[in-house]
Amino acid sequence: MTDPQIHKGLAGVVVDTTTVSSVNPETNSLLYRGYPVQELAAQCSFEEVAFLLWNGELPTADQREAFEAQERSLRRLDDRTRRALDDIPTSAHPMDALRTAVSQLGGLDDSLEQSDGILDPELNAGRAIYLLAQLPTIVAYIQRRRRGLEPVEPRDDLDYSRNFLWLTFGEVPDDVVVDAFRVSLVLYAEHSFNASTFTARVIASTLSDVYSAVTGAIGALKGPLHGGANEAVMHAFAEIGTAEKAEAWLDSALAEKRKIMGFGHRVYKNGDSRVPTMKAALESLVEHYDRQEVLDLYNALETAMVERKNIKPNLDYPSGPAYNLMGFDTDTFTPLFAAARVTGWTAHVFEQYAANSLIRPLSQYTGPEERHLDR
Ligand code: COA
Repeated sequence: MTDPQIHKGLAGVVVDTTTVSSVNPETNSLLYRGYPVQELAAQCSFEEVAFLLWNGELPTADQREAFEAQERSLRRLDDRTRRALDDIPTSAHPMDALRTAVSQLGGLDDSLEQSDGILDPELNAGRAIYLLAQLPTIVAYIQRRRRGLEPVEPRDDLDYSRNFLWLTFGEVPDDVVVDAFRVSLVLYAEHSFNASTFTARVIASTLSDVYSAVTGAIGALKGPLHGGANEAVMHAFAEIGTAEKAEAWLDSALAEKRKIMGFGHRVYKNGDSRVPTMKAALESLVEHYDRQEVLDLYNALETAMVERKNIKPNLDYPSGPAYNLMGFDTDTFTPLFAAARVTGWTAHVFEQYAANSLIRPLSQYTGPEERHLDR
């Protein structure tokens, strides 16, 4: 028997069709439901992008108003979620706390027990917007608790991005900061069959519920080869210190065969299409906070990495320092990514339900030959 061809890491394997987004490494483009992500980042609120990902079209003015009102009404945390979060040691990573909270939301949703309660599209649309509204409150609660601060109640007079910042910091920053944050959320919202989205689809393909799929996706996103990279970028910046030290730091990191976080991508081999937009947002923050040294270090490491390895930055590279400048704790960066990506995850879960086939690949066995117990 000839050996089957192994597709390690499923690299290059097309496993299904999707209408949610397309990543084209040749033209270096990313489209959400056909719209270039750069145009969405320049012109749309994060709420509009969530609506687009779920419904396939941008909302009309009436739809937008109704959608925003619904999201604003669902922001408050259930006391049981608060208690679940309070039970987690503050030394735990915020992604662990977030994963626990989302799992608990599933346990609290008794409509899952109705007949067809897991797959009902209307119930699922409600769950997706509930998750969208709850995640900022949960993520902010986690950061404030770790800082020893009392939680701040959500405000329904603020849009999604402003409310998220209000919940975290107890104040709404200047528009330039709000805008950079909104841009990061739009860019993080969706990216086709990445590892966490694929995880969500695998879970959905067993006809499990959307909370289970999102819980699993959060687990996948936590790893440093995926969402955890935005935190790792900040750790690297802290290790390097200043721009002049970037080259020497890089040489010794590469000599130790370390992966340089925030660089490289499984699909984009010639630069991540989202980076220029996020870098522009970072530049606006650098100017606002008068922190040119951050951009100097950013540019120095990027130039050295391209010179040494010809490997370009991915979205996590500019978003890490951007979130740092906004005042988020480093451990909260990946939860911010999760709060944005829950839109893409759920869009894919619903697409999977609508044309489901259990995802169950094969493997080639390379263990011991058949043998028998001898006792
Ligand atoms: N730092 C150093 N070397 C890197 C690198 C990085 N960030 N990314 C890729 N490479 C090197 C690999 O070591 C490998 O070199 P080799 O052929 O000499 O062994 C080569 O480039 C190919 O990399 P590979 O790991 O096979 O690419 P991949 O498609 O499997 O991996 C990532 C993609 C994202 C996992 C990888 O680039 C990475 O680990 N990046 C850092 C983590 C990160 O930023 N993740 C966020 C992704 S959006």
